[in-house]
Amino acid sequence: MEPSTKQHLLGRLKETRGAWVSGAHLSRELDISRTAVWKHVCSLRNEGYVIDSAPRKGYLLKETLDRLLPAEIGAALHSECLGRRIVFESEVDSTNRLARDLAISGAVEGTLVVAESQTGGRGRKGRNWFSPPGEGIYVSLVLRPRFQPAEAPKMTLLTGVALAETLIHIIPSRVTIKWPNDVLLGGRKIAGILIEVSTNIDAIDYMIVGVGINVNTPPDRFPADLRERATSLAAHIGHPVPRAEILGAFLDCFERYYAVVEREGFAPVIRRWRELSDMVGRRVRVQDFDRSLQGTIAGIDDDGLLLIKTADAEIQRVIAGDVEYL
Ligand code: BTN
Repeated sequence: MEPSTKQHLLGRLKETRGAWVSGAHLSRELDISRTAVWKHVCSLRNEGYVIDSAPRKGYLLKETLDRLLPAEIGAALHSECLGRRIVFESEVDSTNRLARDLAISGAVEGTLVVAESQTGGRGRKGRNWFSPPGEGIYVSLVLRPRFQPAEAPKMTLLTGVALAETLIHIIPSRVTIKWPNDVLLGGRKIAGILIEVSTNIDAIDYMIVGVGINVNTPPDRFPADLRERATSLAAHIGHPVPRAEILGAFLDCFERYYAVVEREGFAPVIRRWRELSDMVGRRVRVQDFDRSLQGTIAGIDDDGLLLIKTADAEIQRVIAGDVEYL
């Protein structure tokens, strides 16, 4: 996606952060009038950027907060379709809920809903997703895939692969995927995926891909019931990480795999998922609807179902469920 003029301007101001850039210089470089430069600066200020201006000096971008503003995301994105339209909310009940409403009213494929915080962030099985302001990434994508509805669950695997690859670039070791929808860092949950689908008889009408990533939450800020099981990027790296860059990298990666699926189906995604997961051979208990299974993980099949080898050496296929390591 081509950056807009405003994103371009923001990029220039960031490159020269701490130094003044003249309006004439920006106007030449961006090929717009000086009045247009001024209008874009005003618009960035309205979004929350602190930009000083002075006669004969030009513009100076002061330190910005780490915010997931559309201009920040746009500047970090290279995707063709995903995130081409961004709906930003400072606070929302759930980005999945808002994305679904937008999808019903015709939002185009790739529409990205971003919130700085969620008051009712949804997790799987009616759980709540911890969504404090400014610390995590809470986003939902509207997709209109052309594959059959039966393939839809495999999108959770694709999302997990894209998340894991994004995080591996930042922390090369200890990122793994846990079936069906968790990404772990050092064995603790760092990201979760919640996909909701609306289908017609033989086609997908829309799909909402919801993703939550714990980025800058300090370990002691997680609620007590999560503290032992959850982690954040900053907790591992030891300093805050710019969220827009992570989101941009994730969307680029997701789009590449989404294009692979269009051309070749899900086989390459499943292959990559197997490489990124360390579940095979682990003893687990799985709660699958009304049955509870205990056994050893044998892998996932080509449909993305979990394979459990039980005590009687039978292989059981699990469609959905909670997996607990023993
Ligand atoms: C899980 O692991 O249980 C899934 C968590 C998914 C959370 C994300 S945050 C953004 C999007 N909006 C929601 O309400 N939920 C998802």
